[in-house]
Amino acid sequence: MGKYNIISKSEEDTKKIAKELAKKVNQGDIVLLTGDLGSGKTTFSKGFCSYFSIEEDEVSSPSFTLVNVYKGKSKIYHLDLYRIENLDEIDYQTFKEYIEDEKAIKIIEWNKIKIDLPFKTFKVEIKHVNETTRKITIEE
Ligand SMILES: Nc1ncnc2c1ncn2[C@@H]1O[C@H](COP(=O)(O)OP(=O)(O)OP(=O)(O)O)[C@@H](O)[C@H]1O
Ligand SMILES: [Mg+2]
Repeated sequence: MGKYNIISKSEEDTKKIAKELAKKVNQGDIVLLTGDLGSGKTTFSKGFCSYFSIEEDEVSSPSFTLVNVYKGKSKIYHLDLYRIENLDEIDYQTFKEYIEDEKAIKIIEWNKIKIDLPFKTFKVEIKHVNETTRKITIEE
């Protein structure tokens, strides 16, 4: 419980940090992921999914598809809510069946909109420090 910062010095570090978080995440839980362009959201997602035996190559930004579905030791939905500014009924309908699936873990890329979620939620923010350094803040 609580909020803490971790410094990542490489892509591999970020994957390891994500894999550590994955150990604490249970079926149904949600990971809200935010960070600027190129900060490492996809890298983090690859590390996270590798804990569930999902190949890194399968994990990609859901920017065009809105939802990627990965099947490993757990089912994972990787959703893109990044461009959504207010979660009115129509927006939510698109994602509802995924977000409300208690059997899957959801990684949601978002832009800090206020959103009520039906399961335990971990918040992850990745901040670009310099070319190879990122500050990762995790709130659980
Ligand atoms: N410490 C670090 N952690 C994560 N990525 C790093 C780090 N240092 C350098 N990088 C590089 O930063 C890039 C991160 O790209 P990635 O696609 O994961 O970001 P993203 O946040 O998903 O971007 P986008 O917003 O375009 O989807 C990669 O090229 C990676 O090698
Ligand atoms: Mg990405």
